[in-house]
Amino acid sequence: MTDRLLKNISIKINGVCKSIDIHPTDTLVQVLREKLGLIGTKVSCGQGECGACTVLLDGEAVNSCLVLAASVDGRQIITIEGLAHGARLDPIQQAFVDHDASQCGYCTPGMIMSAKGLLIKSNSPSSEEIQTALAGNICRCTGYKQIVGAVKAVSEKDTKNNPNNEKRSQKCI
Ligand code: FES
Ligand code: FES
Repeated sequence: MTDRLLKNISIKINGVCKSIDIHPTDTLVQVLREKLGLIGTKVSCGQGECGACTVLLDGEAVNSCLVLAASVDGRQIITIEGLAHGARLDPIQQAFVDHDASQCGYCTPGMIMSAKGLLIKSNSPSSEEIQTALAGNICRCTGYKQIVGAVKAVSEKDTKNNPNNEKRSQKCI
């Protein structure tokens, strides 16, 4: 029997156009994890307080547990799975490795996506701007010094020509 509550949305996810059937109450993180298998995006609080579920929505970092999937029809989403180019990590991912900015790793995808959102807007954010951008991301084990240091290290490099920093602006037709 047809489920009359199903709604179809089209999104560009990590550069690939997808058409997905959702329920009106599905959150974006539910769709990412349960319908698209993109389990790199984590869920912890489920109410916008920890940042574990952060993804980029049209280039802006958002808590995907607070976003209704129905509201992202026609929009572009990048998750942690969309950052690396093949075997080449995105510079922010590499910086997290180089600076020991992760321990258990549960917060790391969200931290990295928040940092990425900041670096898309600003090539050389100050330490204060980095701290503000990451203020909604909670880490219970690494400590924030290494994390801020990793973001700072990327921001001090020439990221202008980094192809991984593009906003991937072409929409799905
Ligand atoms: S799971 Fe979304 S903010 Fe905590
Ligand atoms: S690395 Fe464990 S919560 Fe951040």
